[in-house]
Amino acid sequence: MSDSANKQEGWADYFSNNPNLKDWLQEKWQTHQPVYDLLNQLLPPNGKMLEVGCGLAATSIKMSLGGISCMALDIDPKVLKLAEELNQGENSNVSFVQGDMFNLTEHYGRFDVVYSGGVLEHLDETEAIKLLSEQSKVAKLVLTVIPTKSEKQKAPILRFPYGIKELVSFGEKAGLKPYSVLLFKGIESSQCHRLTKHKDLDVFIQSLDLIPAQRIGVVFKSPMIKSITI
Ligand SMILES: C[S@@+](CC[C@H](N)C(=O)[O-])C[C@H]1O[C@@H](n2cnc3c(N)ncnc32)[C@H](O)[C@@H]1O
Repeated sequence: MSDSANKQEGWADYFSNNPNLKDWLQEKWQTHQPVYDLLNQLLPPNGKMLEVGCGLAATSIKMSLGGISCMALDIDPKVLKLAEELNQGENSNVSFVQGDMFNLTEHYGRFDVVYSGGVLEHLDETEAIKLLSEQSKVAKLVLTVIPTKSEKQKAPILRFPYGIKELVSFGEKAGLKPYSVLLFKGIESSQCHRLTKHKDLDVFIQSLDLIPAQRIGVVFKSPMIKSITI
């Protein structure tokens, strides 16, 4: 287990303090619909997705119900137990694995998309680059979604106030190519900007960071993986 993994304890208690996880799941599905729409655009029909730092695996459960083959990875067995119960309750078909997201060796090249939501904002720059670098070997497309400073959300551990500028920079340092940026402004409202169309990328990204949003996401392409190997 890495040092970073040790720092991320407390989530099981945080999740199990919620008296009604089924209601929590429904609410999460409502507020995160733009993320699922995006994932459906990125994934081929019957595609394969790995979610790292899955927590209760709300995203994997939702995508699995839509026909995507989902594996959800978390380091904490107590969190995974809660997620498995939710998965069963929804009759979805996520496969769960206990593991460290900083070592994804056994998953290299096996997925169409690797996703993390609400994870990277808890990592410092070195850890964030390390995570994105691991993800770059797992799938051709890497999607990272984090809350912005303005999204009111409690968390048991520190959150860094990263913007799109930082996310893009971490990805580039991890060898990824930023492809598009998402601004999630509300339950149904989101904006997607294709970065490859912009010549003066730094200036454009700075302008995006000024737009108010609850969550931001970046889709990266991995130059390391040309096609799915299995
Ligand atoms: C914010 S919570 C989960 C958020 C969840 N993805 C969501 O969208 O609701 C962060 C999760 O990352 C997990 N985690 C922390 N360090 C990890 C590591 N090194 N490897 C895998 N999972 C880790 C924690 O156990 C926790 O469940």
